[in-house]
Amino acid sequence: MKLNIAVLPGDGIGPEVTAQAVKVLKVVAMEFNHVFTFQNALVGASAIDKTGTPLPKETIDICKNADAVLFGAIGNTKYDDDPDAKIRPEQGLLGIRKELGLHTNIRPVIAYDDLLSKASLKTKQIKDTNIIIYRELTSGIYFGDRYLSDDGNTATDICKYERFEIERVTHAAFKAAQSRKRKLTLVDKANVLETSRLWRRIVKEIAPQYPDVRVNYTYIDNAAMELIIKPRQFDVILTENMFGDILSEEASVIVGSIGLLASASIGDQYAMFEPIHGAYTKAANKGIANPIASILSAAMLLDYFGLDEEAALVREGVDKSLKLHITTPDLNNKYDNISTTKVGDFIEDFIQNPDETNLNFTNIHLGQSTII
Ligand code: IPM
Ligand code: MG
Repeated sequence: MKLNIAVLPGDGIGPEVTAQAVKVLKVVAMEFNHVFTFQNALVGASAIDKTGTPLPKETIDICKNADAVLFGAIGNTKYDDDPDAKIRPEQGLLGIRKELGLHTNIRPVIAYDDLLSKASLKTKQIKDTNIIIYRELTSGIYFGDRYLSDDGNTATDICKYERFEIERVTHAAFKAAQSRKRKLTLVDKANVLETSRLWRRIVKEIAPQYPDVRVNYTYIDNAAMELIIKPRQFDVILTENMFGDILSEEASVIVGSIGLLASASIGDQYAMFEPIHGAYTKAANKGIANPIASILSAAMLLDYFGLDEEAALVREGVDKSLKLHITTPDLNNKYDNISTTKVGDFIEDFIQNPDETNLNFTNIHLGQSTII
């Protein structure tokens, strides 16, 4: 298969982790006789520094001409600390999601057996958790009108949803549920918000089209608690933009590190693959950023094009790295010198030599003497 992939490394740790995902895609192409070409483009704070805007026109064009986009991370503390900044890196990410019409953001949350002991939660609580969050991505309070009064004392952010925006992500979530445990939970705040009541009404209308799927309705405040105390009760979570942002980051404590959570952002014409974590500016260029979320996002890219065997092999490489503790320090690794690049190298090697035994694999590829 020929794929032209736009790569938007972005800010902070974005370039480091994205480089590992690109490395993995390159070796996949080599091993499976595909032709993947990569074209880099600027976004976020790094784009502001070079061009004055977080989403240059050239970047939009590159993405629109590509088969898929691989996104890194966005943000910079210098903007976080300045509420008066008119131009912000995040406008780059929100802008590209909107430009490409990426309305459905899919965030899997899987508790790996090898990491259970590293999560802050009890093993028996989180074992076998396997959730997929369907987050609406191009509407709601993120994209509603904003207002700040001239005296600077009053502000509003409008949360607006239209029927078609709710319908399309809802159908996608129901279809996903059908191929999983056939349970869908709508998370909203229908006891307070009119937009949430619209979501509930529309989901109730659509539900009969998927009679094999059980539907539950939960308020966001309750869902935030249930997700931690009993995450196994969830299968597909469907929710609006901001609740999905918050819940998915919360869910990362089940997995052990936010550096492990990947996502796919899908529209009718375009698709982008992005880790859920941010730019983590203070960790940039130290080689400590976990590249697995980015690598797993690349696996979701392969899924999207039906390259199932390739995606499975990438995931097997990730599993193996976790099993052998070839991981970055966010996972309290027992080795202290495993860098971002080394994790990428390991998974790259695995894809080339998937049949080697564990021990030899560690010996040969990472030099046992240096790490144990
Ligand atoms: C995410 C991020 C973004 C979001 C930020 C960086 C704008 O937190 O993808 O979860 O809020 O959507
Ligand atoms: Mg977020």
